[in-house]
Amino acid sequence: MALRIRHLLGLDGVSREDIVQILDVADSFHEVLEREIPVVPTLRGKTVVNLFYESSTRTRISFELAEKRLSASPVNFSVSTSSVSKGETLRDTIKNIEAMKIDMVVVRHGAAGVPYFLTQCTDAVIVNAGDGLHEHPTQALLDMMTIRRKFGRLEGLKVAIVGDIFHSRVARSNAWGMKTMGMKVVLCGPPTLLPQHPESLGVPVTDDLDEALGKADVVMLLRLQLERQSSGTFPSIREYRERFGLDLEKLSKLQDNVLIMHPGPINRGIELASNVADGPHSVILEQVTNGVAVRMAVLFLLGGGENEKEVVI
Ligand code: CP
Repeated sequence: MALRIRHLLGLDGVSREDIVQILDVADSFHEVLEREIPVVPTLRGKTVVNLFYESSTRTRISFELAEKRLSASPVNFSVSTSSVSKGETLRDTIKNIEAMKIDMVVVRHGAAGVPYFLTQCTDAVIVNAGDGLHEHPTQALLDMMTIRRKFGRLEGLKVAIVGDIFHSRVARSNAWGMKTMGMKVVLCGPPTLLPQHPESLGVPVTDDLDEALGKADVVMLLRLQLERQSSGTFPSIREYRERFGLDLEKLSKLQDNVLIMHPGPINRGIELASNVADGPHSVILEQVTNGVAVRMAVLFLLGGGENEKEVVI
């Protein structure tokens, strides 16, 4: 069955059925990626523009790899080498790119709502690769894929998302998506870095780390977004690390099979100690691997594919 959505702008409002379908197809693509030649012809002839107005390592490279693995034609756009540096507007940029006959646009931008704005300017399918403080839906999908592959289910699992929640589009997308999938999500951080209207996310928030970590199956640390802080959001890096950073001592009090996750990039020694990030509970690099499969699934399903059986050719 086709997805109910035409674009992937966020996980707010995306149905359980659509999320399950994306994760099932992503599992099939995970098998494709294990092959000697990890390429399928499913998006041959489709052109995908990667429109990145903000820096990225994981998201940008994994979208481009996903497009290549699907035999699509990726085109990369970066602000510094484009006519944006000459003052061209976003609307003119997308209209000109569309005039060259494209099928899909993957967009990352510092302003919330840009992916939606693009749906009003072009007939191409739009995929949000992160918009301001709003959403980062493919990150949340790859996070759920990683958890599901480890536990065999999502429903009923407790996930503590810890850190700079206020600035985190990853936390928002995970809160929406995980709640839809029946998971128990708790958001934890210093009061100044918690959302101003937490009720809109529909999950509990707390500044009590012990409460958040109690009986957690998964702990997801978030990067302290030092570039987006206004002054006074926390007293000092040292105090932040002591209260909210995860080190071996705090890890020793968690469940034996707890998963440690981080969307990257990591501030090593601030939100996460290196020996925890690189330790046996960490699935951080598996998240990155699964990101390619999830992005293949999203592009495939929004690009016209309908089900798992079409994947493995
Ligand atoms: N997780 C994530 O979005 O990383 P990048 O900023 O490197 O893409």
